[in-house]
Amino acid sequence: MLAITVENMRVFLHVLAATIWVGGQITLGALVPAIRGFDGVTKVAARRFNQVAWPAFAVLLLTGVWNMLEVSDHYSDAQSTTLHVKMGFAILSGVAAFLHSRATSKAGLAAWGAIGVVTALLALFFGVQLG
Ligand code: HEM
Repeated sequence: MLAITVENMRVFLHVLAATIWVGGQITLGALVPAIRGFDGVTKVAARRFNQVAWPAFAVLLLTGVWNMLEVSDHYSDAQSTTLHVKMGFAILSGVAAFLHSRATSKAGLAAWGAIGVVTALLALFFGVQLG
């Protein structure tokens, strides 16, 4: 069997946090139409999701910096550009999710929710390219 390395743990934690941040948003978004009819349930579900999503986002940022320190010295110009674009989308996904959680109008909720998911997916895609 392969030896378990620190690199394995670094990537495992980064990808685990990405599954929660990205997959959680998609799953909650899919559930909302089903639970919307029950008074207050969407709010309770969103509040509970936030309790795992924001720690996951913090882990993404911390392990993202850790990844960068380990691998970016050997990056080509193209890889560095992809990394910077990816970091931009990661930050945007956090800002959009924050504004989504603060939005009070239906349009604001929908727009920031959609921007949050799309930017998180783009960060995920560029992460896979780098991995
Ligand atoms: C929404 C936020 C993010 C998502 C969804 C995400 C997702 C991913 C994924 C899926 C990988 C591929 C792992 C692999 O297969 O080896 C990856 C790699 C990577 N990520 Fe992220 N990431 C995010 C945020 C960040 C941030 C903020 C940084 C930098 C500060 C970062 C830096 C990196 C680096 C350098 C790699 C390459 C790691 C390696 O080659 O060992 N990520 N990311």
